[in-house]
Amino acid sequence: MVKVSYNQKPYRRIMMEVWGAKCVPSPSPDTESGKKILEKDPDCPGSLGIAISEAVEDAVKHNDTHYSLGSVLNHVLLHQTIIGLEAKKALEKIGDYPDIVVGCIGGGSNFAGFALPFIKDKISGERKNLKVIAVEPASCPTLTKGPYRYDFGDSAGLTPLLKMYTLGHDFVPPPVHAGGLRYHGMAPIVCHLYNLKYIEARAVHQLETFEAGLTFAKTEGFICAPETDHALRVVIDEAIKCREEGKARTILVNVSGHGHFDKSAYEAYLAGKLKDYAYPQEEIKKALKNVPEVE
Ligand SMILES: Cc1ncc(COP(=O)(O)O)c(C=O)c1O
Repeated sequence: MVKVSYNQKPYRRIMMEVWGAKCVPSPSPDTESGKKILEKDPDCPGSLGIAISEAVEDAVKHNDTHYSLGSVLNHVLLHQTIIGLEAKKALEKIGDYPDIVVGCIGGGSNFAGFALPFIKDKISGERKNLKVIAVEPASCPTLTKGPYRYDFGDSAGLTPLLKMYTLGHDFVPPPVHAGGLRYHGMAPIVCHLYNLKYIEARAVHQLETFEAGLTFAKTEGFICAPETDHALRVVIDEAIKCREEGKARTILVNVSGHGHFDKSAYEAYLAGKLKDYAYPQEEIKKALKNVPEVE
């Protein structure tokens, strides 16, 4: 488990432990890739890229261990489309279809699983005007600031090369409270669709996302994960635009997770302890130095 999430989200860890798991903060001294990183920076907060390297290394070394990636790879997006297919059916039942589809985006599986069944209609021309918006943190601006290159999915370079927008596989994101969105790359299908302009991307700041999460909690009655709050920010902005333009539009949003185990993030927000952070362009340039040159 990425070290910063291990510390920020103790209840997620405890749940896994209840069901018999042993959780180790990554980077860990248990793998060669973890050790290398700890030698250079003992306080490294970790990243999804580093955790993937450690997991793949562990799976390669043990015959009884298998590794399954939770996002990014295209086949994961495809089986997640059950979310979008169900959403489409539910809307059909009430005779509606979205004008705007919004989801937050880390590696791409929840967003694409939700949006692909609708994007199909945009590609076929049946719903040419459909707007599809992927929302990422300004602290990890993969789609909005990363170049479109071949790169590794993990920090040690153990995965196959993927064609994607990337901030560089050794990018270590700042520890903002949306752990699931702090990934350097993006699923190739999402990148292709973004490159062809079937998808728009927006980068939003941490404080405005929590503000949106609070508005949603007060109006809808439940608390969403900080990742989901990114999508909610854009939903609220789009709804305000509708009001200003005097137009009624159906906005469909994927609530990717509840925030029951993220209360410490809300506590920090309410206590005024959180800050906005935009990832500096120079850091992106530096991280891109190690991205392989591919003809
Ligand atoms: C609640 C929540 N939403 C969204 C995401 C983003 O993931 P992805 O873009 O890979 O679907 C995560 C990832 O951990 C998450 O925990």
